Amino acid sequence: MSVPTKTLYTGAKMPAIGLGTFGSDKYSGQQIADAVLDAAELGYRHIDCAAVYGNEDLVGESLEKIIKGGVAREDLWITSKLWNDKHDEADVIPAFEKSLSDLRLDYLDLYLIHWPFPNFHAPKVDVTSRDPHAKPYIHENYMKTWRKLEELVRRGLVRHIGTSNMTIHKLEQVLQDSEIKPAANEMELHPHFQQPELFNYCVQNDILPIGYSPLGSPSRPERDRTPEDTVDVEDPVIKQIAANHGMSSAAVCIAWAVQRGQVPIPFSVKREQYKDSWNAAISAPLTDSEMASIAGIDKNCRLIKGQVFLWEGASGWEALWDE
Ligand SMILES: NC(=O)c1ccc[n+]([C@@H]2O[C@H](COP(=O)([O-])OP(=O)(O)OC[C@H]3O[C@@H](n4cnc5c(N)ncnc54)[C@H](OP(=O)(O)O)[C@@H]3O)[C@@H](O)[C@H]2O)c1
Repeated sequence: MSVPTKTLYTGAKMPAIGLGTFGSDKYSGQQIADAVLDAAELGYRHIDCAAVYGNEDLVGESLEKIIKGGVAREDLWITSKLWNDKHDEADVIPAFEKSLSDLRLDYLDLYLIHWPFPNFHAPKVDVTSRDPHAKPYIHENYMKTWRKLEELVRRGLVRHIGTSNMTIHKLEQVLQDSEIKPAANEMELHPHFQQPELFNYCVQNDILPIGYSPLGSPSRPERDRTPEDTVDVEDPVIKQIAANHGMSSAAVCIAWAVQRGQVPIPFSVKREQYKDSWNAAISAPLTDSEMASIAGIDKNCRLIKGQVFLWEGASGWEALWDE
């Protein structure tokens, strides 16, 4: 089954659905690596990785098997991300090299700065935890990190570089000062959090939006939930559209994402789920009126607020998003 794609400003084509690999505390690295291998059998060619997910070595074993099994490297799209404690100029290239060797590759398709805030915190800490050395977005410093990513492109080690968890205000500055502009921006996107202004800004500037938590992250840990959070897959509009097509609510979220123009990267280690998402991405059956109905259920409900990255003196998580 051929993979639908989205075209980047370079002319390269990114497979229109990717498999997420962040298992949080719920799934082991081996379960995720096994899912990557099996998802490639189904047709997935795009894998969203990150150093901080702590499983790139195991995912790399699966990538090696996929390539040895006959999938051409050029047909895969592998993304990884620089973690928040590696923004210093001296740390960027070694952190990248570690990801590249763990993933058993000789180049990446996309390398992102995971969050635009330098900080360090131990994995799985509570949202109330704060790093006394955490810093806000300082454009000059971000550009120093970005220059090292540009160097990776020039050295042929990375095909595209991009941003994640950004705002229009920050992207405007990066676009102004970058020599190699971001090809993609990874951002939270699901029917209850559509970020229309940022989404449109990216599209208008030829930055492909990659949508994380495309199902509204129904399995995220308790520490990442607040009482105001809403549940996309239980929305009556989503459920009605699912009934119209005999699809699951999750599949409707994926079809909506692909048809709207972002690249969803749902996470799952369960074959019936990642197959369901795959089928939704390749069939994209929603009508214009169904697409319009989903546009109408945006609740501006940000789920991944990023509290733990706050710096001393910050007012609240809204400061991370320039609100
Ligand atoms: N750049 C960033 O800062 C950032 C931040 C967050 C996430 N991400 C990326 O985005 C990926 C996805 O995000 P996410 O895991 O938060 O959210 P998500 O993909 O919206 O939700 C994943 C959960 O949804 C359920 N699910 C998956 N497919 C399903 C289907 N077809 N039908 C029914 N349920 C289904 C599974 O729940 P069960 O496990 O309960 O079965 C799965 O654990 C991550 O793995 C990561 O790669 C990036």
